[in-house]
Amino acid sequence: MSLTFKPLTPVFGAEASGIDLRRPPAPEQVEAINQAMDQYAVLVFRGQPISQDEQMAFTRTFGPLDIGFKKAANRQMRLKHFELADISNLAEDGSVASRDHFRIVNNMANQLWHSDSSFQDPPARYSMLHCVITPSKGGETEFADLRAAYDGLPDDWRAEIEGLEAEHFALHSRFMLGDTGYSQAQIDAIPRVRWPLVRTHPGSGRKLLFVGVHATHVVGLTVPEGRVLLSDLLEHATQPAYRYRHSWQPGDLVIWDNRSTLHRGRRYNLDEKRELRRSTTLDADHAEASAPAETATA
Ligand code: OGA
Ligand code: MN
Repeated sequence: MSLTFKPLTPVFGAEASGIDLRRPPAPEQVEAINQAMDQYAVLVFRGQPISQDEQMAFTRTFGPLDIGFKKAANRQMRLKHFELADISNLAEDGSVASRDHFRIVNNMANQLWHSDSSFQDPPARYSMLHCVITPSKGGETEFADLRAAYDGLPDDWRAEIEGLEAEHFALHSRFMLGDTGYSQAQIDAIPRVRWPLVRTHPGSGRKLLFVGVHATHVVGLTVPEGRVLLSDLLEHATQPAYRYRHSWQPGDLVIWDNRSTLHRGRRYNLDEKRELRRSTTLDADHAEASAPAETATA
């Protein structure tokens, strides 16, 4: 059985086959997946009914794990591993949670275009989302290729954003949704970080447009001007030509590269169960971040 990759769109994404994710991958399989990630940025593995332990073991072979937003809001766990994100609308007993349950409120921000943990340094590299239960309709996950977005930028926009940095903040998307009940300690738990709007993806050498809802403003511009620019860039980056929409089936595992893509969940009927589990690796050995002077720590 050898790993093969079949492109999902003319731009990015591929369906992978020829591997059983219940077993830790061999070094050559890790290498093949890393190479395919550099090229396709999103890989879909169908028919992989992995356990939580198996997902953790598989993920760990790709690098150190990220816990992301749990640094600010570490709440009651339903899953076995602290490093697994509970991407579900379920309460502790496995029933559908009420609409104001913290898990539903918290996961709602996943429905806005973002790159996982772009609000921290180091940010996330790979996210691995495993599907357990899907609702009868909706609840897809969409991806956008930020390298294609950069390639498609008009020349005058490229010139305008060259050298600019955006500041990213963990609670920005939550505040946007009206989820504001955080203490000062939670607000301070994840220091803000700045990333260039134009970055180079190390694996593919391609330039990319690094935006998303964790970006609060553009350094050196007024907040309103920066937000309007970020909103225009996000609209450009997520246009249908640069998108892949994944319709989930139980047993799917989708891996995406947070350095080169954005993603968002789509709305679904919150009275129906949707259950996915996410494990995430840290982008541990990267360059380019700068801490905002006013919040820099010694
Ligand atoms: C995530 C995420 C989107 C979805 O797990 O990081 O953004 O469709 N999920 O639930
Ligand atoms: Mn996400």
